[in-house]
Amino acid sequence: MMVCEYKPGLEGIPAAQSSISNVDGQKGILEYRGIQIEELAEKSTFLETAYLLIWGELPTSEELAAFEYEVRYHRRIKYRICDMMKCFPESGHPMDALQASAAALGLFYARRDLNNPIYIRNAVVRLIAKIPTMVAAFQLMRNGNDPVRPRDDLDYSANFLYMLNEQEPDSLAARIFDVCLILHAEHTMNASTFSARVTASTLTDPYAVVASAVGTLGGPLHGGANEEVIQMLEEIGSVENVRPYIEDCLERKSKIMGFGHRVYKIKDPRATILQNLAEQLFAKFGQDKYYDIAQEIERVVEEKLGHKGIYPNVDFYSGLVYRKLGIPTDLFTPVFAIARVAGWLAHWKEQLEENRIFRPSQVYDGKRGIPYMPIEHR
Ligand code: CMC
Repeated sequence: MMVCEYKPGLEGIPAAQSSISNVDGQKGILEYRGIQIEELAEKSTFLETAYLLIWGELPTSEELAAFEYEVRYHRRIKYRICDMMKCFPESGHPMDALQASAAALGLFYARRDLNNPIYIRNAVVRLIAKIPTMVAAFQLMRNGNDPVRPRDDLDYSANFLYMLNEQEPDSLAARIFDVCLILHAEHTMNASTFSARVTASTLTDPYAVVASAVGTLGGPLHGGANEEVIQMLEEIGSVENVRPYIEDCLERKSKIMGFGHRVYKIKDPRATILQNLAEQLFAKFGQDKYYDIAQEIERVVEEKLGHKGIYPNVDFYSGLVYRKLGIPTDLFTPVFAIARVAGWLAHWKEQLEENRIFRPSQVYDGKRGIPYMPIEHR
């Protein structure tokens, strides 16, 4: 048997062959199905991008209209799911609420007919349609309000902001939110996607696949970093405090949230687009006091850590955009999940096409041959 070198975190080890997305971390390029992210951010919509990721090609106008119609039709959630969510503690994190609700969808829809393209299509549509409704519903219910029903006359992103804030969003705000979803929809073999593929490889249902990926996304080293960026900006509080704060972090060897990436060694292309979106929002709706602090952090971190390839990642500016859109800080990661469900589902589908259950090995470094010690002798 071939003996392989153990790599913590499987760093650099291919876990799948995939044609969904591609990153060139040296040049700062991200492509979905070969199309650069900048072009999709400018010209596409989230639902069109989700279609591209999942079915491999941009849809024709008929295909897109059919997909949008189906997603619109399936936005509502069952009252039993709502009732279940009403029992969640208000103090619980919305990512935990989302993970539980996504898993609960599996209770309602027939499972494991994985060879049937209609089952695959319906599962894709239901998950993309219902996850935003569940995120918005939990937000309203934890504040003691009834959830708002989705509005059929609003598109995907405008409807989410409407369900969240109980008012129709400004069109620029809705478009910018849609672009944020495009930017977060997929990103090669990251931790949550790997988790989705491992779960998919057991041939369980897609709701379990998404629920496991949501659980993985929640950690501060992955999707949870955008929340921590805002906490860091709050803690720093002023431009003058940036340098001492960063120097202190470096001395304590603690990570600066929103910086660094396993693959990108220059500024994440999504961070550049998000910074630009933030500036568009500030121009229309007024500055955010944290933007100056954020820019100063970028300058100081570049000066101190640029030589190590540490630059802003996708999470650094996304929080400032979401704040301006009126999204509460602890919903940032659920919003990331709304977008990333498209990528997870694309990987679920790809995994099923040539499935082999994940069953890696380990390097055992524990004891062996130890006799069982009766409890009275321990
Ligand atoms: N602040 C300070 N130093 C850093 C940072 C950071 N954010 N990121 C990496 N480094 C340093 C690290 O200390 C190490 O230095 P040295 O070689 O002297 O020990 C070197 O850079 C390599 O770091 P690493 O942790 O081995 O790199 P990695 O590829 O394992 O880490 C990362 C990638 C994203 C986990 C890490 O950069 C990090 O923890 N960043 C902060 C959390 C964050 O923003 N996460 C969001 C990631 S992007 C979106 C997503 O994946 O969801």
